[in-house]
Amino acid sequence: MAERLIHEVQKPDTALETTLRPAAFSEFTGQARTRERLEIGVEAARGRKEPLDHVLLSGPPGLGKTTLANILARAMGATMRATSGPTLEKAADLAGLLTNLEEGDVLFIDEIHRLQKTIEEYLYPAMEDFKLDIIIDQGPNARSVRLNLPRFTLIGATTRAGLLSSPLLTRFGIRERLDYYPAEQIQVILERAAGLLGVSMDAHGAMEIARRSRGTPRIANNLLRRVRDYAQVRGDGRITRETADRALAILEIDQHGLDEMDKRILETAITKFGGGPVGVSSLAVAVGEEPDTIEEVYEPYLILEGYLHRTPQGRVVTELAYRRLGLAAPARRQSELL
Ligand SMILES: Nc1ncnc2c1ncn2[C@@H]1O[C@H](COP(=O)(O)OP(=O)(O)OP(=O)(O)O)[C@@H](O)[C@H]1O
Ligand SMILES: [Mg+2]
Repeated sequence: MAERLIHEVQKPDTALETTLRPAAFSEFTGQARTRERLEIGVEAARGRKEPLDHVLLSGPPGLGKTTLANILARAMGATMRATSGPTLEKAADLAGLLTNLEEGDVLFIDEIHRLQKTIEEYLYPAMEDFKLDIIIDQGPNARSVRLNLPRFTLIGATTRAGLLSSPLLTRFGIRERLDYYPAEQIQVILERAAGLLGVSMDAHGAMEIARRSRGTPRIANNLLRRVRDYAQVRGDGRITRETADRALAILEIDQHGLDEMDKRILETAITKFGGGPVGVSSLAVAVGEEPDTIEEVYEPYLILEGYLHRTPQGRVVTELAYRRLGLAAPARRQSELL
């Protein structure tokens, strides 16, 4: 059973991603505050010879949650067992994992927002008091037995922190939200990756890819690989701004790093809702997404980049968005918009 539940973490991860994944805080670029708080937490826990407090890492896909979980476990000198919310189907699955842990181990639960409610409830005493209440037998003979668990650290990762129940949320002593990376930091990440892959790339080439990576290290690393192919086949193998630009044009990667859903959201807000204000749930229905996903995965980037504003009446598309989509902003609106 344990084999099924403990898998090498990662849905979209490729071998490349594992190669490029930073193994220590010193190799992890950006998220400076988060990094500092986590480093302090690790050092303090180690000093006290205690396991690290439970950690919740949230934020949009590809920003480094799994990476940080691995770094944390390694920094604690702990063994990490990884599973995910949807993989745990029965309370017994979780019980099996918990009872196999050893003192100080890290249990990583990816997509923890997808944990079933009934399973989640077993986690509460496990997290708080390192106890597990299991029900044995059925019907009139059913009784609850309390097991002691070793002191472990739960690291949860989620793209949708808003979906976690408050009892679960508050049992994490450390909660960190990762943000999109500025292009300059993505550039550093790309330069490190190019070094590891043995690709020659100048700073302009790195910046060109960084600008078009939607502030996301995973996207940046994937684009780097595609640009590398282009440079190898159509160029001299070196990545410069020109090669990067030509390669990304062939791949139809947006000049500004917007992905299809980003564009769909902006286009829909413009064509169906006159540019807003539009409520996030109406927008979500129109684009066929969950409101939470819009709010937690897409919107933060659109707001960060100045395409969307959040107002008490709803979301409003900025003039920049009209320009980027090649649409004319209605004159009436231009004065109201930044
Ligand atoms: N701060 C960073 N510095 C360098 N590389 C990074 C950083 N963050 C992420 N990466 C790279 O991006 C890849 C994706 O990161 P990771 O798998 O940790 O994202 P995630 O937040 O867990 O995504 P998901 O929500 O999809 O599980 C990593 O394999 C790593 O190569
Ligand atoms: Mg992950």
